[in-house]
Amino acid sequence: VVTVPVPVPAHRDASYDVVVGAGLLADAPSLLARHSPAAAYAVIADDTVAPLHAAPLVERLARAGRTARLFTFPAGEAAKTRATWATLTDALLAAGIGRDAAIVAVGGGVTGDVGGFVAATYLRGVPVVQVPTTLLAMVDASVGGKTAVDTPAGKNLVGAFHPPRLVVADIDTLRTLPAAVLADGLAEAAKHGVIADAEYLDFVAGAAPRVRAGDGTPLERLVARSVEIKTAVVAADPVDRGRRAILNYGHTVAHAVEAASGYAVPHGSAVAWGLVVEARAGERAGHTASGTATAVAAALAACGLDAAPHQPWPLARLLAAMQVDKKRRGDALHCALPARIGVMCGDDRRGWTLAVDRGIMARELVAAGIAVEA
Ligand SMILES: NC(=O)c1ccc[n+]([C@@H]2O[C@H](COP(=O)([O-])OP(=O)(O)OC[C@H]3O[C@@H](n4cnc5c(N)ncnc54)[C@H](O)[C@@H]3O)[C@@H](O)[C@H]2O)c1
Ligand SMILES: [Zn+2]
Repeated sequence: VVTVPVPVPAHRDASYDVVVGAGLLADAPSLLARHSPAAAYAVIADDTVAPLHAAPLVERLARAGRTARLFTFPAGEAAKTRATWATLTDALLAAGIGRDAAIVAVGGGVTGDVGGFVAATYLRGVPVVQVPTTLLAMVDASVGGKTAVDTPAGKNLVGAFHPPRLVVADIDTLRTLPAAVLADGLAEAAKHGVIADAEYLDFVAGAAPRVRAGDGTPLERLVARSVEIKTAVVAADPVDRGRRAILNYGHTVAHAVEAASGYAVPHGSAVAWGLVVEARAGERAGHTASGTATAVAAALAACGLDAAPHQPWPLARLLAAMQVDKKRRGDALHCALPARIGVMCGDDRRGWTLAVDRGIMARELVAAGIAVEA
């Protein structure tokens, strides 16, 4: 078991631990009592994860003499909405869940985001414990304190900063995860290597084939190191005004691909393409050491993340989708770019994103088989 402490600089007493290990949920009653004591636990899960991991947790809490209730919502990004937030908060109110309760969000990033947003707002805010059950949620979504729901105008547009009291990453829960969903998390882990730690990128690429074959042994180290890297970046920029932009490496392209595909492309695949295309654009623009993109692509191939989509999207549609990117300033595209593997371009004075010529981006999207000129 590895414990990664996460500082929250603005609120010293809001620091929390991410506990990573196999079989941790067996200790959930005492972990919760220690890190987030509460009169009752409202466990929130989607209807896929509920029978697999959340109902057993509720039972275990009950057996330990705790009051615990399960609240579910439909699985999938489509349910990460204000409507789900409203249904859940109404159900909590109807069940008489009070200010002395804590919320436990058990599931992937969707559950963490919607459960965290419920916790941030319920009775003006109650504590939340994150229990991530996807690799993506373990290495990324459960850490950093961002919660949100989607709106018709875009993803994650309504939300709050609400750091958890504790994150319990029980890697045994990943055994029930479909392979494609596991790969999503590997893309983000590879991203952490590129932005901060070349040796870790090698570790991820080396471990990925074993992990994909069902060997969970490397996962404790993988999750813990990714959490350390994300945590260090978030701690340096808790409210997302500067350095935290480097976590968005690959995501300018990824978000455009997801939008252009109507969210049919899994986030991990979109991120994998984005990591490579943005590195190539960075090389072309003279910001990124040559050979970086090829090294990134090799690591992602080991993760089982394909080099190109089956069918490219119209270039104009992708470029239009990039224009609504949250990192955009003025007319040029702005991306977080690696200087080389393990080191990102930028500094706190000039910022952590660089302008990328739309023509360069367009050429690289076409060259990668992601876009086609109409
Ligand atoms: N708050 C943040 O900082 C942050 C960061 C990254 C991503 N996110 C958000 O995370 C979401 C994506 O997360 P995700 O990929 O985990 O999606 P998800 O929560 O939808 O989970 C993916 C699928 O896997 C299923 N599932 C989850 N755990 C399982 C398990 N152990 N066994 C079997 N099935 C399981 C879910 O029911 C779902 O169908 C997005 O909404 C994204 O915006 C948030
Ligand atoms: Zn991502």
